[in-house]
Amino acid sequence: MSHDHRGHDHHRHDHDKRLSTKFHWLFHIRKFWQSDVNRDMLALAAPGEGDRAVDIGAGMGPATVLAARRGASVTAVDPSRFMRTILTMRRPFQRARSRITVADGVAESLPVADASVDVLWTVNAVHHWVDLEAAFDELVRVLAPGGRIVLMDEDFTHPDHPLHASHHDHEAETTIVDVVAIEAALRARGLEATGEKTIGGGVPVKLIRATKPA
Ligand SMILES: C[S@@+](CC[C@H](N)C(=O)[O-])C[C@H]1O[C@@H](n2cnc3c(N)ncnc32)[C@H](O)[C@@H]1O
Repeated sequence: MSHDHRGHDHHRHDHDKRLSTKFHWLFHIRKFWQSDVNRDMLALAAPGEGDRAVDIGAGMGPATVLAARRGASVTAVDPSRFMRTILTMRRPFQRARSRITVADGVAESLPVADASVDVLWTVNAVHHWVDLEAAFDELVRVLAPGGRIVLMDEDFTHPDHPLHASHHDHEAETTIVDVVAIEAALRARGLEATGEKTIGGGVPVKLIRATKPA
């Protein structure tokens, strides 16, 4: 009897946790539309006229729409049907809509041909990747010679991050983004790579930049 009772409490606890995660997410919805972190990432990735670009874990497309405006052709990849639906609804309102393609996929299996990408990036998605080694193989596979990569993930573990306290639980459940390990993994695959902890969009971020030799 007491066992059943504890089981019930446990269930409610999980449910409440899921609910609070959803509300937390809704609260930050503006950030999914446009964000300073995405802007600063794009300043580094610098997608330009005619570039073939991939936004991995594009979400609602804050980086995708800006990159398309800059003249790049962007494939926005995301495994979430919900995110893809929102971005697909957002696309017709973009002047650069003909340069935006929304695709189902994950970092570990990109719906993109070999050596066909000039610039790829990901913002706040590396911590969702489940198999980093497979994802790195994919980045190297799709990148054209001379192509570049920018991976930027907000560092919610940093005490200076404004959402440090509220992300504590969430972070514990996701992939750890280790800039030194990622730099080494990309170098081992023949890329020039640097990983660092720095500031992006005014908050602490983890940043990895890499290029494929021409
Ligand atoms: C926090 S959102 C960030 C979205 C967008 N990049 C932004 O900055 O607003 C993380 C996104 O990663 C996507 N995602 C989850 N697992 C993924 C994976 N294995 N590969 C690529 N993207 C993934 C999620 O569907 C979600 O849209």
